[in-house]
Order: sequence, then C-alpha cells, then structure tokens
Amino acid sequence: MELIDQYLRKVNYLRVSITDRCDLRCVYCMKEKMQFLPRKDILTLEEIERICDNFIDLGVEKIRLTGGEPLVRRDILKLIEKLNNKKNFTNLKEITLTTNGTLLKKYAKELKLNGVDRINVSLDTINSEKYNIITRFGNIEKVFDGINEALDADIKIKINTVVIKDFNENEIEDLIEWTDNKKIDLTFIEVMPMEETDISREYQFVSLSETFEKLNKKYNFLISNHNTGGPARYYTSNLLSTKIGFISPLTNNFCATCNRVRISSTGKLFMCLGQNDYVDFREIMRKDFSDDYIKEKIRFALNIKPKNHDFMIGTKINKYMKRHMNVTGG
Ligand code: 5AD
Ligand code: SF4
Repeated sequence: MELIDQYLRKVNYLRVSITDRCDLRCVYCMKEKMQFLPRKDILTLEEIERICDNFIDLGVEKIRLTGGEPLVRRDILKLIEKLNNKKNFTNLKEITLTTNGTLLKKYAKELKLNGVDRINVSLDTINSEKYNIITRFGNIEKVFDGINEALDADIKIKINTVVIKDFNENEIEDLIEWTDNKKIDLTFIEVMPMEETDISREYQFVSLSETFEKLNKKYNFLISNHNTGGPARYYTSNLLSTKIGFISPLTNNFCATCNRVRISSTGKLFMCLGQNDYVDFREIMRKDFSDDYIKEKIRFALNIKPKNHDFMIGTKINKYMKRHMNVTGG
C-alpha cells in the first residue's frame, strides 16, 4: 500500500516527536522559560506504537524519532525495540533519531543493538564557550563523547548545523574541516520561523544561498545525487572526503518532493512543518476508534497536505508558526 497526497507526492516517511522536553534551550528553538506539557497530554508508548503501526500498514518505510530531545524520554529504547522487530515483517525499513547528543554516550551501544544505524546530531558550533551560549547552558564535552561513542558503535552520524547570523558564520569552514577529519557528513540548515523565541528571527537568519556561494569559491562543489530521503541537497568537493548538505527552506524550497509528515508528542499530525493545520489522533485513539478509522483519518490528512510551507522571514514581515520546533522536532 502507498500513501499518496493530493499533489501526487508519495509519503513514506514519518517523524515522531516523543517528548516536547529537552535538556538544552537553544536560543533559536526555545524561550529561556518554557512551559512543558503535563505527562497525561503526551502519547503513551502504546499510543505511539499504534499510530506508527497504522502508518506502516499504509506504506511508511522510515521513522525518525525526535523531540524536544528524544533521549530524555525514559522508555525510548522499549519503543525502538518494538519498532525494530517490525522491520522483519512490515514495510518499515529504517529507524533513525535526531538528537542533541548529550545523552548519546549512555545510549549509543543499545541504539545500535536495536537496529539504529544512522543518527542526526544537532551541533551548531565546536567551540565550548559558544556552545554554552547557544544552548544556554550545555556542555559540549558530553556531545563530543556521545559522538565518539556512537562512531565506535558503528552508527553513521550526520551533523546538523543551523547557520546563525553573527554566531557561527565564521566557523563554517572549521566545522567542515572538523567533520571531514572525523569522516562524518555535515548539513547546514536555515533558521526557520517557528514560534517566537526571545530574539527576533531576522537577527538570526542567514541565507544559505549566500553561504553556499562563499564556500563554493574554496571548495568548488560538485552536486551529488546522494539522497537520504530528506530535504538536503548534497555536494562533494575534491578537497573533502565527506558530503556537505544544505537545507534551505526559505531561499530554496523543496516542497515539491516532500515525502514526510510529522506527529507531535501529543498526537497531532502536522502535514507540513511550515503550516499550522493538523489532525488530532490522540483524541481518536483515546476514544477507542478502530484502526480502520485511524487509517481513514490518515488518508484524509494526506489529502489536505499543503502544497508549500508558509514561512517567511523579512525585515517587515515575519510569518511565524504558532508552535516551537520542540512540538514536532527536526
Ligand atoms: N529553525 C531551524 N532549525 C531549528 N531547530 C530547532 N529550531 C529551529 C529553527 N527555528 C533544529 C535544531 C535541531 C533540529 C531538531 O531542529 O538545531 O537540529
Ligand atoms: Fe533542545 Fe534541539 Fe531545541 Fe536545542 S534545538 S533546545 S537541543 S530541541
């Protein structure tokens, strides 16, 4: 079975936010004082599994667990173990994770044992003082330890770096050299106008088209046909042994090939990261509807998946989403 939306895009990728909580407070993601949700509002493990099962029945092949920070949820390994078993007899082929890496040292081996072969680690700087500032209190050593542990466990790592004005623009080449030395891929991301944080978005935003042009002078990038099923465009260079990806939703949108939808930690299905519409599956599950009904609702949701996101960052107009990134994760 396949899930096809109204614009004939095949959707085979589900991202699941398993908690809105995080042990960091990155300044472009959250406010300093965040109100997190009460436990009763968050989907139980059984509810997450049920929604995943229905999506898998309908053709989803790849599931990414995200947050907030997915590794702060205590029962995450149980969930991954259950999902991993499904790979043998369902459409599901891959389980991945987006994490900030602070707890990776503790979890890497178990993740690998439970079939997680690839992880995205969010890291915006390799300078420990700057890391402490951007995350508001994080300790970069924990992330370095986590990355090393994951590499030792033979997990493939990709670093995701949000490029932030006057913060890490001058560190881009250092990040490229650092990841290249470790033989891990690196992807740059544009700041997206999710719900307001304590700093206005236009003071954070950098156009990745410009970053690309600057880097291209040195690296002479060649476009690569590498595709992980995500929105990044990848490039190789004779100077590098790894690939560099660019995710630029604002300057170069990739909506035409979008293959994903997102479930929030409270069971809301967001058909697009850059739109506010959702379908609430928590109520459907808690009111004891059948799996057939859930599937019908999933198809309904796919039929109203919007054509494009509605993001905008400008000096006069900023179009914010009405939720922070930790609702749906990256
Ligand atoms: N714009 C772009 N990326 C963001 N992230 C969090 N908030 C934003 C935002 N407003 C990133 C994190 C991490 C992933 C979960 O999403 O850095 O890589
Ligand atoms: Fe946490 Fe990731 Fe948001 Fe940073 S960007 S506060 S690590 S969820």
